[in-house]
Amino acid sequence: MKPAEQNIAIIALQDDAQDELIAHLQRHFAESGEHGFHFIPFDPKDDASPAGVSMEHTRIAVGEGPWQRWFVAQETATGAIIGHVNLKAYALKTSAHRCLLGIGLERNARARGLGRKLMQTAIAFAQAQDGLSWLDLMVFGHNTPARTLYESLGFVQTGIKTDCFRIGDTSIDDVYMSLPLRSGLPS
Ligand SMILES: CC(C)(COP(=O)(O)OP(=O)(O)OC[C@H]1O[C@@H](n2cnc3c(N)ncnc32)[C@H](O)[C@@H]1OP(=O)(O)O)[C@@H](O)C(=O)NCCC(=O)NCCS
Repeated sequence: MKPAEQNIAIIALQDDAQDELIAHLQRHFAESGEHGFHFIPFDPKDDASPAGVSMEHTRIAVGEGPWQRWFVAQETATGAIIGHVNLKAYALKTSAHRCLLGIGLERNARARGLGRKLMQTAIAFAQAQDGLSWLDLMVFGHNTPARTLYESLGFVQTGIKTDCFRIGDTSIDDVYMSLPLRSGLPS
């Protein structure tokens, strides 16, 4: 395992860092599709992009509605955010025992051990929540770096939706993975 750098802090998103996070997400999403490698289900030719952060939802208690939590990789000297991981509740109350994880690092921040550290931080947070039993994520079939990281942390593939997205001429499979947060769960 690579040691994450000392001048980068892995911390919960601070209220005053919202603009830094939005700037990071814009830079990060703009990288999807570079060299033909997509990691979000949006065509770079379109204006649409993922929903991003809702600071209002970061203040909702876990299990109490559309809660979100964000952890970021932030340069200690400049305050610039270069990576993130988020946890979001499902819309349905009947899925309140699960949440959905998303992660992303800007190109220059990858392969430096930060992705693993962000994932470990999010998993530890989820494991500490009594009401949560499962952590879920979706990942493109061709995204070997991400799938390798998730598998190394105990995520198990639960399904695959073939030809889920089409971006230009590229057909993309969506892989479903889950991590049990405690023992004795239904299998
Ligand atoms: C996927 C991603 C989050 C991984 O974060 P990272 O900081 O680059 O990864 P790390 O340096 O922490 O490495 C963690 C593990 O990921 C795997 N990994 C990383 N890069 C890899 C590569 N090029 N090929 C195969 N496995 C790779 C390895 O298992 C690695 O563990 P190891 O170093 O002990 O071998 C990051 O590359 C990224 O943000 N990519 C673009 C956005 C994205 O794909 N998001 C996920 C969408 S589901």
